[in-house]
Amino acid sequence: MIVVKIGGSILENVIENNNFYNVLKNINDDIIIVHGGGNYLDNHSDLFNYEKKYVTSPEGIRSRYTDKKTLDIFTMAMNLINNKIVLNLKRSGLKAVSLNGTINARRKEKLIIINEKGRKMVIDGGYTGKITDIDTIPLKNILESGYIPVIPPLAYSNESYLNVDADRAAAYIAGYMKADALILLTNVNGLYINNNIIEKADENYIKSIIKNVGHGMDKKLMASMEAIDYGVKKVIISNPFNDIYNGTVIYNEL
Ligand SMILES: Nc1ncnc2c1ncn2[C@@H]1O[C@H](COP(=O)(O)OP(=O)(O)OP(=O)(O)O)[C@@H](O)[C@H]1O
Ligand SMILES: [Mg+2]
Repeated sequence: MIVVKIGGSILENVIENNNFYNVLKNINDDIIIVHGGGNYLDNHSDLFNYEKKYVTSPEGIRSRYTDKKTLDIFTMAMNLINNKIVLNLKRSGLKAVSLNGTINARRKEKLIIINEKGRKMVIDGGYTGKITDIDTIPLKNILESGYIPVIPPLAYSNESYLNVDADRAAAYIAGYMKADALILLTNVNGLYINNNIIEKADENYIKSIIKNVGHGMDKKLMASMEAIDYGVKKVIISNPFNDIYNGTVIYNEL
């Protein structure tokens, strides 16, 4: 079984692209699809009447802040994307269903930020979740029926549905399902270090370079190591318009 995560960065290019679905058709294995979509929301902010909110951490890192309204807009956007993917999988002759509800998470209750005056401040954590576990039974049943489950990066706590990082969601799902591979599809051919693509790497190497990697790829490498720690045999970071099996392949040990 393989878990394929479609990055938000390439969503709009693959969503209606027949070649992409042909690649999936040729995979002779059970497939679970997880997708991102932050970019989609940014590119269609008019459609959702959406205005981005940011906070800055004491380390100086700016990130999106998910208040209640942002969460609801995020949820709408993710489910729209999800339906578009399911529609196009069906159109290309693959059997697919949308799946919400399998990712469980805890709400991050507090967040330390730097306010406009440059002072440290504790604010409500908003509606971002830290994944705790995955309900694998519905996933197994869907795969057994011959369908591809298509999963958005939405998780559930007792309080609320929550926004979660899609790379992490895919890593947890791959881990809990004991997948043979996790494929993280994105808009670059893999991990680049000093302008060279890294074709193969083990966990120790990833740990040694992660601090020197830029935004976007850093999260992908964190998620890759989580998946490997959960027992996924390999993680492939690749570009769907190149070759999904070739890019950067990460193993526990080489
Ligand atoms: N060392 C690096 N090698 C390759 N890409 C890097 C590196 N450092 C930073 N990046 C960036 O990481 C990006 C990919 O991650 P990004 O989060 O933007 O996309 P995604 O995960 O496909 O989308 P989403 O997060 O919306 O699901 C690339 O576009 C690239 O600019
Ligand atoms: Mg990303």
